[in-house]
Amino acid sequence: VANGLAQTPPMGWNSWNKFACNISEKTIRDTADALVANGMKQAGYTYLVIDDCWHGERDARGFITANAKAFPSGIKALADYVHSKGLKFGIYSDAGTKTCGGRPGSQGHEYQDAITYASWGVDYLKYDWCSTGSRNAEEAYALMSDALRSTGRDVLLSLCEWGTNKPWLWASKIGNIWRTTADITDKWSGKHGYALGMLDIVDLNEPLWPYAAPGHWNDPDMLEVGNGGMTTTEYRSHFSLWAMMASPLIAGNDVANMSEETRAILLNSDVIAVDQDRLGRQGRRVAKDGNGEVWVRTLADGKRAALLFNRGETPVRLTVNWAQLDYPAGQSLKLRDLWAHRDLGAMKGSYAATVEPHGVVMVTLTP
Ligand code: DGJ
Repeated sequence: VANGLAQTPPMGWNSWNKFACNISEKTIRDTADALVANGMKQAGYTYLVIDDCWHGERDARGFITANAKAFPSGIKALADYVHSKGLKFGIYSDAGTKTCGGRPGSQGHEYQDAITYASWGVDYLKYDWCSTGSRNAEEAYALMSDALRSTGRDVLLSLCEWGTNKPWLWASKIGNIWRTTADITDKWSGKHGYALGMLDIVDLNEPLWPYAAPGHWNDPDMLEVGNGGMTTTEYRSHFSLWAMMASPLIAGNDVANMSEETRAILLNSDVIAVDQDRLGRQGRRVAKDGNGEVWVRTLADGKRAALLFNRGETPVRLTVNWAQLDYPAGQSLKLRDLWAHRDLGAMKGSYAATVEPHGVVMVTLTP
């Protein structure tokens, strides 16, 4: 996109997965404080995004207002507070007449809303797809993209039409990230109403690896790490898979009240570095044998990341070989285990590890 943003996948926090419509300016301020205090801002989580349900009504001239009960100080004051913490501020709207939560959508008010957001200091817009009737998705998203650009403010645009119109084929010049699936839910796998388990999302997002590049990324939805529906092992797998897929890392938990286990996952700087690798190539699965999978990602400076992933209920021994990584078998590579936080020394030909049920072993390989 011409806005030059998202040269690496965006990182931040979004209110939806944990708080849904139970949001207030206090939630957002507490989160801003927490992102600074707990090290997340320092680790790269810079966008603080309010999702659905912040809205009040449109005023007599059609300008959108905040829900005065939940946001009595208004959005401008909240954005100023978030900016004062050195964070960036994001907001949510919808391309239809109403948001998914039934609040006013932006249809017919695109330029007016873009001007309002710019005047509030918005840095990121998540743009949803409820109540859009027969609207054409490409046109609707291009219209808001143009409206944002016309304000002169750099606003990262997040498309949220759930992959229904294959945005990877047309959105690279319109937005910075595009959702590829229905909503994630805090479950390992399976359909849960209209929402999907983490693994179902992985299987839909993985084949789209050719479409990711600096400036525009596949978005397999926000993180559920720390929300309680999966085990710590499963959350490590979730986080690792998102990093292998060069996904936006948008935390979706209560970062002001999280466990040490959750913090250690979200703040794993080795895994974050894979996600944020400047070459910007999405990783992919190169081998699958029963419940065992091998994933690889090409990194800058001739490095690679590899993920050994066990979907099953018993430990498995998994191997990544140098051919899968496009290295000659005789090449000597230095390995680092990104969850053990340990250098493993130099190796040739292949690397094997026993992977616990629902777990991963993630390494980087450096020539
Ligand atoms: C659907 C989106 O996919 C979710 O991420 C969230 O923004 C909700 N709508 C809000 O209503």
